[in-house]
Amino acid sequence: MKRTEIKQLLTQPYTEGSVYVAGWIRTARQSSKVGFIELNDGSQFGNLQIVYDKDLANFNEINKLGLSAAIEVWGEVVLTPEMKQPLEIRATKIEVMGDSAKDYPLQKKRHSLEYLRTQLTLRPRTNTFMAVFRVRSVLSMAIHQFFQDRGFVYVHTPILTSADAEGAGEMFQVTSLDLNDLPMTEDGRVDYSKELFGKKMGLTVSGQLAVEPFALSFSKVYTFGPTFRAENSNTVRHANEFWMIEPEISFCDLDCMMDIIEEMVKYLIDYVLEQAPQEMQFFNDRIDNSLLERLEVVRQSRFARISYTEAIELLQASGKSFEFKPVWGQEIQTEHEKYLAGEYFKQPVFVTDYPTDAKAFYMKLSDDGKTVRACDLLVPAIGEIVGGSQREDDFERLKAEMERRGMPTKEYQWYLDLRRYGSAVHSGFGLGFDRIIQYLTGIANIRDVQAYPRTPHNAEH
Ligand code: 4AD
Ligand code: MG
Repeated sequence: MKRTEIKQLLTQPYTEGSVYVAGWIRTARQSSKVGFIELNDGSQFGNLQIVYDKDLANFNEINKLGLSAAIEVWGEVVLTPEMKQPLEIRATKIEVMGDSAKDYPLQKKRHSLEYLRTQLTLRPRTNTFMAVFRVRSVLSMAIHQFFQDRGFVYVHTPILTSADAEGAGEMFQVTSLDLNDLPMTEDGRVDYSKELFGKKMGLTVSGQLAVEPFALSFSKVYTFGPTFRAENSNTVRHANEFWMIEPEISFCDLDCMMDIIEEMVKYLIDYVLEQAPQEMQFFNDRIDNSLLERLEVVRQSRFARISYTEAIELLQASGKSFEFKPVWGQEIQTEHEKYLAGEYFKQPVFVTDYPTDAKAFYMKLSDDGKTVRACDLLVPAIGEIVGGSQREDDFERLKAEMERRGMPTKEYQWYLDLRRYGSAVHSGFGLGFDRIIQYLTGIANIRDVQAYPRTPHNAEH
């Protein structure tokens, strides 16, 4: 008999008949004559109720199974319209595939997210993490759907690279050399010419520089992959390995790009509400009671757009005692971002036109000579989820800026040359995938939206 997935059984219209299902025991209770099992096979969020009685040959064995034991069940579907669940299975035969030992760490009680972080391999069996990782999967698809529907070409940019795209010195180094026996040059430095690639290499911090050349061919492109930052940031929104979506669009200036970002965020909300309604309801019930209402407001709203200079003025006029005083020229800190998006606008807000020195080298310099055509999208509770800019398309200006920052222009000649061979207005952004999942689920900590989080002093499995 072919196995029926629980999702299929619990999707209308419900039909009666004989079935064979398999799954893991979520909860079980029994009396001397009858037992009830909530079975889950991961095909959908909810459980299937199995009812069995002492006519079952192995009634006593089934009664003793541990939580999360894997079983196979043969039985009859019985519609139960008067009950909470639309149907149940009256089992005629149950076989044990793998019992679960009595020391199973997730016994039936509510566990804190902190505790579950110590159980990375078992937490996908809990409601919360089953919801998180399904939504993560659904949103991956949503990203591709959004860009593919609009004619964007998906480019796989390399993970191993020598280019520090953000110029922030946060690259993890990757080496094939023996660290205990390094080849040295005469002046006592590591001889990277002996490296497998003949030069110093690292893990990418961003696919942007590698995807820009494709935007100057296909016009509309995106990357979507893992990125790495060797920063010692112990916060709820920083991870050392995270996924990023990086679109790059030719013939599109900053305003044009902000329209795309706004359309994308609204699309992602619609998509996840449609494709994972049970999970989203669960987040609203158990994680963040204002989630669905908040997302509805975002869908309907037009995102605010203010300049960095206006943002600093708002912060200064706020009367708040921030840890970092808002001063023109200084970075907008997380506490500032949270005030702007969470308290002042109470919705997503674009902050544009940052001081040159607060941003990366590749951004388009404005005519004022002091600011660049950058935008960050800030959302309540999290702060920045998107960072992007119009790119500097003028060869001389870009070269001058790179030199001013002391960058090795020779190594980036190929990047500069894009401004000599048919330079075009183009813009791009990076959406932090883990952060948008936090935003759309209400999960506060980035460690709870990644399967195996990598954060300082924390890299299990
Ligand atoms: O602002 P960032 O550093 O921008 C870039 O990397 C550009 N090259 C993007 C581009 O224009 N193509 O990073 C972009 C986004 C941030 O807004 C944030 O959402 C996310 O990536 N991000 C992180 N997410 C988790 N952990 C970290 N350590 C992150 N750093 C950035
Ligand atoms: Mg940024």
